[in-house]
Amino acid sequence: MNDTYRSLLDRYVQEIDAQLLKFTEDKPELQGIVCQAMEYSLTAGGKRLRPVLCLEFYRMCGGEDIGKILDVACSIELIHTFSLIHDDLPCMDNDDFRRGKPSCHKAFPENIALLAGDALNTLAFEVISQAALEERISAQTAVMLISVLSKSVGTQGMIGGQVIDLMCEGKEIDIETLNTLQSYKTGALIEAACVMGVILAGKYEMIPKAAEYASALGRAFQIVDDLLDVNGTFEELGKPIGSDSEQGKSTYVSVLGENRSKQIAAQLTMQALGHLSKFENNQFLSELTDDLLTRKK
Ligand code: IPE
Ligand code: IPE
Ligand code: MG
Ligand code: MG
Ligand code: MG
Repeated sequence: MNDTYRSLLDRYVQEIDAQLLKFTEDKPELQGIVCQAMEYSLTAGGKRLRPVLCLEFYRMCGGEDIGKILDVACSIELIHTFSLIHDDLPCMDNDDFRRGKPSCHKAFPENIALLAGDALNTLAFEVISQAALEERISAQTAVMLISVLSKSVGTQGMIGGQVIDLMCEGKEIDIETLNTLQSYKTGALIEAACVMGVILAGKYEMIPKAAEYASALGRAFQIVDDLLDVNGTFEELGKPIGSDSEQGKSTYVSVLGENRSKQIAAQLTMQALGHLSKFENNQFLSELTDDLLTRKK
């Protein structure tokens, strides 16, 4: 593995982690517990893939002042963390561990975990509008970002995908249905991350190319997630293994089998790399894209 890639990734993650800490600095006395729960899940670790994608597309499209838009890039991680807190709840996947620590609803009362997810969701949009109020981005840019992000979260995005995921539990579904499920559940937010980076840099003509890359990467990413639920280790992954089969989930492994899933994930990674070649300065993201195929966590 290339040292430059590794040290750049570490630097991104450090900057993102520092920004995430700032979001929950204030803890009002009476309702501080919800801020603690938000902070608990935000700081538990995680690959920070979505803000890294946003920052890299911003950079590849000519963006030069990452400090100015770091909080906006991190708004996607707020949404992602909200989705994970809710995903683990007993009424959803009922998973007790996340990012190597007890899930939010195990560390805090379930009602507080639910509300921490809700608060992270609204905070994401507060952060974007605040960047416009402080004139770090234009009002027009903020509206475009809020439009992209809100759609990627709602019934045509992550939440829609989570609903299909629940409706497909215990059922035999075809690959088209599974691909639809995936493109909403994980694909939408990954696409939003890439497209938001392009929007922040103002290079709108590259939005379709970023979306094509994200679509291939997002699918490969979910296939690997499904494979890790079978082949991973709790120590590396930080979340329970075998959760999908326990819940009767329809996954790439259950629909296609392990070997076919691995083949398709590799093909999609090649496709993603092909789309990336339309962007200048794509070396870092090419390495990251490659790396995600063989990730262990
Ligand atoms: C896990 O996402 C849930 C999926 C969308 C597959 P990540 O694998 O990005 O989780 P973290 O953020 O690294 O914990
Ligand atoms: C969840 O997919 C994707 C979300 C929208 C949170 P999974 O249920 O497979 O994610 P993990 O495996 O629990 O991280
Ligand atoms: Mg789930
Ligand atoms: Mg889950
Ligand atoms: Mg999973």
